[in-house]
Amino acid sequence: MNDAGRLSIDETVERIKALVGPKGWVSDPNDIEPYLVEPRGLFHGATRLVVRPASTADVAAIVTLCAAAKLPIVPQGGNTGLVGAQVPPENGNNIVVSLQRMNKIRAVDPLNYTMTVEAGVILADIQKAAEEADRLFPLSLGAEGSCRIGGNLSTNAGGVGVLRYGNTRDLALGLEVVLPDGRIWDGLRALRKDNTGYDLKQLFIGGEGTLGIITAAVLKLFPRPREIETAMIALANVDDVMEIFARARAASGDQLTAFELIPRFGIEMTTQHLHGISDPIAAAYPWYVLLEISSSEASGASRAKLENFLAAQIEAGLVVDGVIAASAAQAANIWRIRDGMTEAQGYEGGSIKHDVSVPVSRVAEFIRTAMAAVEARLPGIRPCPFGHVGDGNIHFNLSQPKGADPKGVDKAAYLARWGEFNDIVHGIVAALGGSISAEHGIGRLKRDEITHYKSPLELDLMRKIKHALDPDGIMNPGKVIAAE
Ligand code: FAD
Ligand code: MLT
Ligand code: ZN
Repeated sequence: MNDAGRLSIDETVERIKALVGPKGWVSDPNDIEPYLVEPRGLFHGATRLVVRPASTADVAAIVTLCAAAKLPIVPQGGNTGLVGAQVPPENGNNIVVSLQRMNKIRAVDPLNYTMTVEAGVILADIQKAAEEADRLFPLSLGAEGSCRIGGNLSTNAGGVGVLRYGNTRDLALGLEVVLPDGRIWDGLRALRKDNTGYDLKQLFIGGEGTLGIITAAVLKLFPRPREIETAMIALANVDDVMEIFARARAASGDQLTAFELIPRFGIEMTTQHLHGISDPIAAAYPWYVLLEISSSEASGASRAKLENFLAAQIEAGLVVDGVIAASAAQAANIWRIRDGMTEAQGYEGGSIKHDVSVPVSRVAEFIRTAMAAVEARLPGIRPCPFGHVGDGNIHFNLSQPKGADPKGVDKAAYLARWGEFNDIVHGIVAALGGSISAEHGIGRLKRDEITHYKSPLELDLMRKIKHALDPDGIMNPGKVIAAE
């Protein structure tokens, strides 16, 4: 107890351990390590304690203790975030609150097309539970086997289904949140219409854990597709990609559920480095698109639409080759190429990443301009623009020139130029009216970079919102906006 009658930090940590019991905390350095690192290896944090509460009441009690001691809290879900937002600061003066044990599906209401889940449920388990109720939860991304819905909500994750179903922000009807002072906001409404003032849940969605800890959510469900057709098409020229997209939307009756760009480099990397993947098209072309059409009616119409579309675009000269998956295994092979891009690029040495968006109509212009600019700065650099171009979102990842030692000094020297290439690419994005973070968020990685691209007014409003909800700055400090 200190002079003001408050618990010291050490006493607070002991109280938290007692509160959650032996199953609810981790402090052994070996066991803590996985919570301190992130998928890209860019950040390595430190912490006093990883706490794993099992209920909303426990989360509230933990946060109340931390608020009294002004002990910073870092919320964590599946630890798959790509901007370092879930990694505790290096000074170690914090606790990590992992939601992993809060993994119950509280209710499924097929008639209301909703599901109520705790924040720690793994995304793939939510998809499966929806399917068992003959419904679809459409959020889908490469990390779905390990990311958790609280993390998806807090990063407003995008993924491959945004085209038809929207970002995570569009998939939540209600939230339960523990605020930075320990109060519980029960906003678990399951309503499609609720026009009663400010939409508070939207502050926490995409808030990256800086405004509170999401403990549960009501999610929207959709009719389960009865037929899904997947194709890989080849393009001679990236300039045609968005014209093909516009035609595919029209030809499918707006039933496109994925439109993902893959460069030749992506096919080469995945077939070379990952197990059991084959090139679906015999000849080599510079650009490919994974295209998916789905329908909740099993009439065979989707396949006919895809075949007609492909034939018409080949005839028009926009598409030079293509294959429609004839089996679930062939469709899975095409998706493995798409989903394996990030992993495969890891085998190609250092990769400087950009997750950017531009208006859909300007995607090709962005790719052409940005490729020319980075190649002029570093001849031999290997750009890999891929991803959700149907949403205007390009993962513009740059592999180091070949020949440079992937494991050695050259990799470090290359990665040291991260900021230099960010300046080039983000400058082009800004000139095209785009965003420097389309779907991964801001976290630590882009916290300072974003100050160059958001207006002073926007930054001021963001700081004021943070201060209003978290005046002592204990909730995930130093992420999204610099700590005061
Ligand atoms: P974490 O990484 O644990 O946390 C992310 C952020 O959310 C942190 O700020 C953390 O503090 C906060 N947080 C976590 N849980 C809570 C909670 N309950 N309450 C409050 N804050 C919380 N992202 C995309 O958008 N689209 C993609 O296509 C995509 N593909 C990916 C593919 C791979 C292979 C990998 C590794 C990542 C990919 N990601 C993608 C990034 C990542 O999977 C998403 O950001 C995901 O939503 C993070 O969920 P998580 O549970 O791992 O969150
Ligand atoms: C993806 O869409 O595969 C990821 O968001 C990209 C990444 O891992 O950089
Ligand atoms: Zn992505």
